Formats: sequence, structure tokens, C-alpha cells
Amino acid sequence: MKITVIGAGNVGATTAQRIVDKQLANEVVLVDVIEGVPQGKALDMAESTPVEKTDVRVVGSNGYEATAGSDIIVITAGIARKPGMSRDDLMTTNSGIVKSCTAASVAASPDAVIIVVSNPLDVMAYVALKVSGFDRRRVIGMAGVLDSARFRSFIAMELKVSVEDVNAFVLGGHGDSMVPLPRYSTVAGIPITELLKKEVIDRLVQRTRDGGIEIVNYLKTGSAYYAPSSSTVVMLESIVRNKMRILPCAVYLQGEYGLTDTVAGVPVKLGRKGVEEIVQITLAPEEQAALQKSANDVKQSIAKLRL
Ligand code: NAI
Ligand code: 2OP
Repeated sequence: MKITVIGAGNVGATTAQRIVDKQLANEVVLVDVIEGVPQGKALDMAESTPVEKTDVRVVGSNGYEATAGSDIIVITAGIARKPGMSRDDLMTTNSGIVKSCTAASVAASPDAVIIVVSNPLDVMAYVALKVSGFDRRRVIGMAGVLDSARFRSFIAMELKVSVEDVNAFVLGGHGDSMVPLPRYSTVAGIPITELLKKEVIDRLVQRTRDGGIEIVNYLKTGSAYYAPSSSTVVMLESIVRNKMRILPCAVYLQGEYGLTDTVAGVPVKLGRKGVEEIVQITLAPEEQAALQKSANDVKQSIAKLRL
């Protein structure tokens, strides 16, 4: 198993470190445009492997030769948000970056599964799908796992319970119109609608929608990366170990949930082939309308791109 992580910044480097720590690959390749950074971070990580007893080869590079034959490519390259910026403000710069990274990495690894992290996430996943020419099962965006992890954290904090027992589902685009689903969010199997008042749930839902900017406003120089890298690695683990976990992932939709020619977060079964199945659940009319609105917002952003 060989995994390439493109972008050796906060999310990329932390993702690579988590892959190494969990020994999800025999080889991890870190790529970045900044000379010395991927090499330095890769060497530093490699030097942690005897201490951690993790037999993983870690390589850093400014080119794609070292990435050849990767099984999975994770794209985190691009600029991150600063206070006052929306994810869409990153679109023009990051679409150029994601285009070039996708083209170069698929030329070196034509059979890989691609996980896109760069923002605006759903649009960048669409860009990677179109530029790669891959089957839609092999291009997957990471956002729903992160947004659900935030919702899970806030539910656990509110109820003062272990995060272990909290599950939550957030669908739709990774933007202000994302769709947290309280009906499908549970504590030890009990829907949160049985445990929390509507106004409390509404507050937690809004905090989830604002979860990215809450961190940006603290950090000021960039955006979140601990939870984003954990979320990426959970998807990687399901693919590497063929676990068939059902996770909310951003995928290209062709009629599922009544949505076509757009990318949105929906429940996906993840295995060695990538998307093994898009799981269709019954949504209440207001949930379906919220998903439709969120997907339309993504579609409008996609329409602004010249691919
Ligand atoms: P960062 O600024 O720390 O790292 C980005 C790295 O990409 C930099 O090292 C930069 O040199 C590199 N880069 C730029 N152009 C490149 C190219 N053409 N080829 C290779 N590398 C290139 O940013 P951070 O925090 O790692 O975030 C990365 C991206 O992930 C951002 O767009 C951010 O908005 C997004 N993100 C998405 C999340 C999600 O839920 N989908 C969560 C967190 C971040
Ligand atoms: C986040 O939600 C920046 O999209 C990133 O933290």
C-alpha cells in the first residue's frame, strides 16, 4: 500500500503523520511545491518511526516521480482560510492548484483512489473528478466526517457524555448550508431529539455549520487540521482495510437523492475500490429540501468555474 499526500502543510503533514502512526501504508509520499518542506517533514517523520516502532517508508518530494504507482492520493494542496474569508473565496486559486495536482498525480498513478480535502471541498472534488477522468467511485471528498465529528463533539459536550457513544450525520455541501440531521444523530442509539430540546439542538447545529470559522477565528493564520486529518484518515482506513464503513462523503451524484451532475455529501460505503455504494436513506421533506438547497449552492459554484 502506497499513499501519496499532496500538500505538506498543516492538514497534509498531520494526515501523513497519522497514516504513519497507524501503519496504514508501507510507503507514504509527501509532495509540496515549497522546496525542502516535504523533504524535511518526511525525514522528520521517518526519524519518528524507530521510536514509534512503525515500519513505514516516508519520502518527501517536489515532483511526482516518487508518487508513481500510489494506491491512494490525498489532495490537500491549496490555500486555507483566514478570518473574514469564506471557503468559496479560495475557489479560483485552489481550482488551479487542484487541477495541476490531479493531472500530475493521475499520470503517475492511474489506478489510484483520490481523496480530496482542499476547499471549497465539493467544488474541488468535482474538479478532481473531471480532470482525472476517473470513474466517480474513485474520487471522494472529505468533509462530512469532519462536520459530523464536530456535531458529535458538541452533542457530547452538551450532554456531558462520552464521545464514544455519540454518532451524528451531516450531509450536503461543506459550506454554510450543510445539513446536520438530528433525527439520525444518536447517543447510545437514542436519537438526540429524545434527549435535547429543539432550541438546544438548533444551537448545536448552528455551531456545527460555523465549526470551521470558529477555529479560523482562533488561529487567525489558517484553519483547522487536527480534526480534518483524523477525518481523512478514517476514510483512508476504511479503504485500505476494506472495512466498508458507512461515512458521509462528498461524491458525484447521478440521480441519487434526486440530485444530478453535482457533488454533495451523502452516506457512502467505503472499501478497497473507493465508493462501494451510495447509501440512500429516506429523508423528511424538510431534510430533502435542505440537501437540495445545499447541492444547488455547490452547483452554482461549479458553474462559475471554467474547466
Ligand atoms: P496549508 O497552507 O497549511 O497547506 C497547504 C499546502 O499546500 C502548503 O504547504 C502549500 O505550499 C501547498 N501547495 C500549494 N500549491 C501546491 C501545489 N500546486 N502542489 C503541491 N502543494 C501545493 O493549508 P492546510 O491547513 O493544510 O489546508 C489545506 C487545504 O485543505 C485548504 O484549502 C483548506 O481550506 C482545506 N481544508 C479542508 C477541510 C475539509 O473539511 N475538506 C478541512 C481543513 C482544511
Ligand atoms: C474546516 O471546516 C477549513 O473547511 C475547513 O475547518
